Amino acid sequence: MLRKTDTVMDVAVVGLGRVGRTFVKQLLDVNVRVRLVALADRRGYVVCPKGFAASVVERILSAKADGGAVSDVASAIPGALPVLRMAAAGTTFVDATAAAGMAPLWQCALDAGAGVVLANKLPLCEAHAASAALFAAPKLRYEATVGAGLPVLSTLRTLHLTGDSILRIDAAVSGTLGFIAGRVREGHRLSQAVSDAIDLGFAEPDPREDLFGRDVARKALILGRSAGWPLEEADLDVTPFVRGGGSFGASQFLARVAEEDAGVEAQFREAEHKGETLVYRASIRASGGAIGLASVPPMDPLAELRGGENRVAFFTRRCPDSPVSIAGPGAGPEVTAAGVLADLIDLAVRGERR
Ligand SMILES: NC(=O)c1ccc[n+]([C@@H]2O[C@H](COP(=O)([O-])OP(=O)(O)OC[C@H]3O[C@@H](n4cnc5c(N)ncnc54)[C@H](OP(=O)(O)O)[C@@H]3O)[C@@H](O)[C@H]2O)c1
Repeated sequence: MLRKTDTVMDVAVVGLGRVGRTFVKQLLDVNVRVRLVALADRRGYVVCPKGFAASVVERILSAKADGGAVSDVASAIPGALPVLRMAAAGTTFVDATAAAGMAPLWQCALDAGAGVVLANKLPLCEAHAASAALFAAPKLRYEATVGAGLPVLSTLRTLHLTGDSILRIDAAVSGTLGFIAGRVREGHRLSQAVSDAIDLGFAEPDPREDLFGRDVARKALILGRSAGWPLEEADLDVTPFVRGGGSFGASQFLARVAEEDAGVEAQFREAEHKGETLVYRASIRASGGAIGLASVPPMDPLAELRGGENRVAFFTRRCPDSPVSIAGPGAGPEVTAAGVLADLIDLAVRGERR
């Protein structure tokens, strides 16, 4: 069991949505000494170098849960960038936003000696040349970006460190699409299943990211790049879960999904008829990846996918036929925040990766 360490870690959380707020609550129970020194949202931030009192944190979380801003509770300086003044060895930034353009920020923080933990996939999905330095950074962790709290990327890393090489990765890494597919298999309407996924907080902040396969494509890119393959977005052939999607606007989203009900449901029935399971799969190799609905036979490692689970199968030089597989819940604020927390503790206990 992990004992309370003498490590004091200053933590700055950027993004106080579903994942960020859950993470801050979980942080109060960890077995490392933590000072929460900065909290930021889209509208501003608050900084307390000595660490916020628990009562202040609770007030901020409660204001955020009611749709308010961090700056409603305490005086704040607008703009996220100056939070980087906190960047130094001993501070760890948590990116729980879904914001684009954060990669240079986190590179600055890493350059200043700070640690960075990402729930946000976007900084890792820029052009390979722009993201490569982040993947190589000894104080960057990003386990929650693929498989939420599941040890997907740490398993991949262990396979590497033990001298195995990855041949192919088959992955069902959208808890949202897994949940929706499960409901459709049970006989629910596609549009109702999508609406339920949004209500339960499984879906991405913009649910079109899930339904068009963009979220899975990002995870595939992160998996492939973590396997050492310098893949670009253009190397991935993505077929959306819901077809014809490019024209969906956010406001007409659910109505437009309803138009796809019959077509998608028919694909599920067809797979069942063949004794197979339809899963939204990313199959990734060094040369690129294919992402889309796939009808898999009962022996396939992804065939047992249930509900909001994720499943990832690593086919390696040592295990070419019977892959190393990870399975479990892969979506939702609790498990995602737990993945972020695991990374934070890893940074506190192990420090830099060589
Ligand atoms: N939910 C899941 O199951 C899951 C699983 C794996 C990974 N993730 C990832 O976790 C991240 C957070 O997801 P979520 O569901 O918590 O999203 P969310 O509820 O939409 O929250 C996003 C938060 O980020 C803040 N934000 C956005 N842009 C910002 C910026 N430029 N600077 C500072 N703060 C900014 C927002 O501020 P305001 O409050 O002011 O709007 C909000 O507090 C996403 O990247 C998502 O892909 C989520």
